[in-house]
Amino acid sequence: MVEIRELGEHVGENVTITGWVEATRGHGKVAFTVVRDGTGVLQGVLVKSQVDESVWEAQQGLTQESLVALTGEVKEDARAPGGYELGVTDVSLVSPAPEYPIQPKEHGVEFLLDNRHLWLRSSLQRAGLRLRAEVEQAIHDFLYRRDFVRVDTPILTGSIGEHAGTLFQPDYFGDPAYMAQTGQLYVEAACPAFRRVYCFGPTFRAEKSKTRRHLTEFWMVEPEVAFADSNDNMKLQEEFVSYIVERALENCAEELKVLERDTSGLELIKPPFPRMSYTEAVALLQAKGEDIVWGKDLGAADEAVLMEGRELPLFVHDYPKEAKAFYMKENPDDPRTVLCDDMLAPEGYGEIIGGSQREDDLERLRTRIQEENLPEEAYAWYLDLRKYGTFPHSGFGLGVERTVAWIAGRHHIREMIPFPRLMNRLYP
Ligand code: 4AD
Ligand code: MG
Repeated sequence: MVEIRELGEHVGENVTITGWVEATRGHGKVAFTVVRDGTGVLQGVLVKSQVDESVWEAQQGLTQESLVALTGEVKEDARAPGGYELGVTDVSLVSPAPEYPIQPKEHGVEFLLDNRHLWLRSSLQRAGLRLRAEVEQAIHDFLYRRDFVRVDTPILTGSIGEHAGTLFQPDYFGDPAYMAQTGQLYVEAACPAFRRVYCFGPTFRAEKSKTRRHLTEFWMVEPEVAFADSNDNMKLQEEFVSYIVERALENCAEELKVLERDTSGLELIKPPFPRMSYTEAVALLQAKGEDIVWGKDLGAADEAVLMEGRELPLFVHDYPKEAKAFYMKENPDDPRTVLCDDMLAPEGYGEIIGGSQREDDLERLRTRIQEENLPEEAYAWYLDLRKYGTFPHSGFGLGVERTVAWIAGRHHIREMIPFPRLMNRLYP
C-alpha cells in the first residue's frame, strides 16, 4: 500500500491510496475526492467520460470520513495540497461512514469536546497534536544530549507532592493514596544515583478552576540536577525552552501555518531571558495601581501586567515562603523568601515553568513539613535524602500543554492534549 507522503517516488505510476474522505465536490463531468491517510492529504480527480458508470456512481456515493481506496496515476501539480494529484480510474468503498457528526461548519466547543475521538481527525487538531509530539520529542532529545537519565516516577503515591488542596485520592485497598501532582520528590531521590535526571509523565490536580490554562490531568517534564543552584536552574530553563521553540519552528512550519500562527515572536526566543525578583514585581504592580500585597502569590492577572510589552519570557524569582511549596530552599539573603522561579511566557500565556532550589538542610526541611501540617511519617524517605550525604540541587517542571498552547498560539490548553480531563469532563 502506497502512503500519501511517498507519492513523490511514484509520479507517473498507477497506485492505490487508502484513506478517509475529507470532502467531495463534483460538477457533473469532473468529481474531486479529498482523502487523508494519516501521512498526508491528497486530491483525486475523476473524469466521468473516462471511467465506467459504476466507478462514477461509487464516487458520488462517498460520504465524509468513509474509508475509500482510490486507484489512479500520480501527477505532479504544484497547486494541489501536498504537490500531487491522483488521476482516478477506480474507486472502491472500504467502509462506510453514515452521517458523520462533525460537518464542515461552525460547531460549539462542548459539542466538539463530546466528539473529541472524531475531532482529532480535523486539520487544526492534527496540527496542534503533531506540534505537541514534536515538543515532547524535543524535550527528550535536549535532555538526552545533556546526559540526563530518564527516571519514571510513580503515579500512585503516599506523599503529597505540592499542596494538600488539590489531591485526587483513590482508594488503595482500604487506605488512601494520592495521584501524583508531581514526580519531583522521586527524581530528587534519583539524583545521587545519576546526577542529572528527569521524569516525564501525566500529573493530576483536582483544581476546581475552569480557566483556559487548567487541566485536571496534564503532562509535565521535571529535570533535576545535583550541585545546581537556583541561578544554574534558570539558565537551564531558558536554554531548554529556547531549544523547544527552535525545534518547533524547524520541524513544524507546516503545522504552524495551519494554526495560523504568526511566528515572528517565536523567532526571538533566545537566552538569556530577563529576571525580576518577586519583591521587584510587587513594587512594579503596585506602581501600576494593582492592589497586591507582599506575601500573596501572583495570579494570572498580575502575570499579564508584568508581561505587558515583553517579547521574551520573564523569570520571576524568590517568592515569599508562604506562597510556595514546602520543599523550596530558604533564601539566605532574605529568609522571608525561597530560592525559586516561575517562567512566564509572553503573549498572555503566563506561567509555563515552576522551579526551585531544594531545601537540603534536614532540620529546616523537617520544620517546613511540620509548619505545613504534612504527615511526617510519609516523608521519612524524603528526609533520608538530607540525612545521607545531603547535597545542593535544583529542578523545575514545565507544563507541556501550556507550552504547546503558547507555541501554537491557541487560546485554551484543552486542545493541546488528545483527550482533555477537565473539572466537568471525563468523556470520551
Ligand atoms: O509550578 P508547579 O506546580 O511545579 C511543580 O509541580 C514542581 N514540583 C516542579 C518541579 O520543580 N519539579 O507546576 C509546574 C508547571 C506549571 O508551571 C504549569 O506549566 C504546569 O506545571 N501546570 C499545569 N498545567 C495544566 N493544568 C494545571 N492544572 C497545571 N498546574 C501546573
Ligand atoms: Mg507553579
